[in-house]
Amino acid sequence: MSTSPTLAAIPQPKEDEEYNKICEEHNRLIESLPKGHGWMVKHLYNYNGFWLKQENVKNNMLLHTYFKSEPTDIVLASFMKSGTTWLKALMFSTISRDHYTFSDHYLLENSPQSTFPLIDFECYPISEFTNLPAPRLFATHYAYTLLPKCMTSCKLVYVCRDPKDVLISKWIFMNKLRSKDLPPLTLNEAFELFCNGVSEYGPFWEHVLSYWRASMESPDKIFFLKYEDLKMQPKVVLRNLAVFMGKPFTMEEEEKGVVDEIVKLCSFEFLSNLDVNKKGSLKVDSIVELENQVFLRKGEIGDWKNYLNQEMKERIDRISDAKMKGSGVILGARV
Ligand code: A3P
Repeated sequence: MSTSPTLAAIPQPKEDEEYNKICEEHNRLIESLPKGHGWMVKHLYNYNGFWLKQENVKNNMLLHTYFKSEPTDIVLASFMKSGTTWLKALMFSTISRDHYTFSDHYLLENSPQSTFPLIDFECYPISEFTNLPAPRLFATHYAYTLLPKCMTSCKLVYVCRDPKDVLISKWIFMNKLRSKDLPPLTLNEAFELFCNGVSEYGPFWEHVLSYWRASMESPDKIFFLKYEDLKMQPKVVLRNLAVFMGKPFTMEEEEKGVVDEIVKLCSFEFLSNLDVNKKGSLKVDSIVELENQVFLRKGEIGDWKNYLNQEMKERIDRISDAKMKGSGVILGARV
């Protein structure tokens, strides 16, 4: 059972020959990559089709060199602001349900962020992770095509969300994190960049498609779900998720109301009212410390209506229709 690896416990990179070689290669590569506007930092780099911060490019190279997957690993993948926090809470509570009671639960005192290490940060070599008990839980925002081959044999859960809500959630989140040396990113700027695919881990649509296509090829390996479905039918989705993770709810658990308890514990209303999520913070790396509350803003479907005008809405929907055409993916709650 995966316990609670905190991001703060992530080891610092070891200065070895291989590591130094990657750093040199990275420095050379960065010079040659197309540059775009960052939302949080000044520049993003287009690496194998996706816009990443400089550190995430380097980290991706490290991940390919050092990461060794285990067949029991479970990886939560998402485009930023698609519901990662919610899924972390649900997946962790489901996997670890034999180890906690609901009155004395880990999540009552700890942010959902602390339940899964995000492997996109510089944290290699990651030998410490090999000591985690199975199943190890990891989170990533990298597109499927950027993952190391070995990781494609793990079980992957992908959550996607209406791009209009992702855009607004991301714009608000990134402005909070944005370097104070840069002027705030206006909504119009963010909108243009998003539509052109330029945002951390974007383009959004190609990101979704990368996982969707992989899930079509290997449905037993990739569980593709929508934030909106989870919002509308949390128990149905959670039951399916538990089956996928290899820990289906038993009849006895159903009768005892375990599914309801997990859904309630991980609900936006419950989590956002806990002291740890109202006042606590989490050290992401040696520099960045994030307040837990930034991950729990409104938790609604359709908040974009308070920010985007009709023209903006139609432009994003047109892009979604064109990009998703023929794939079978219907983004958002338009089912
Ligand atoms: P909003 O900014 O629209 O409120 P991520 O976790 O991928 O960073 O995504 C964050 C988004 O998910 C935020 O959306 C946040 O409020 C929402 N969220 C976080 N926890 C949630 C929960 N338990 N239920 C529903 N939405 C949640």
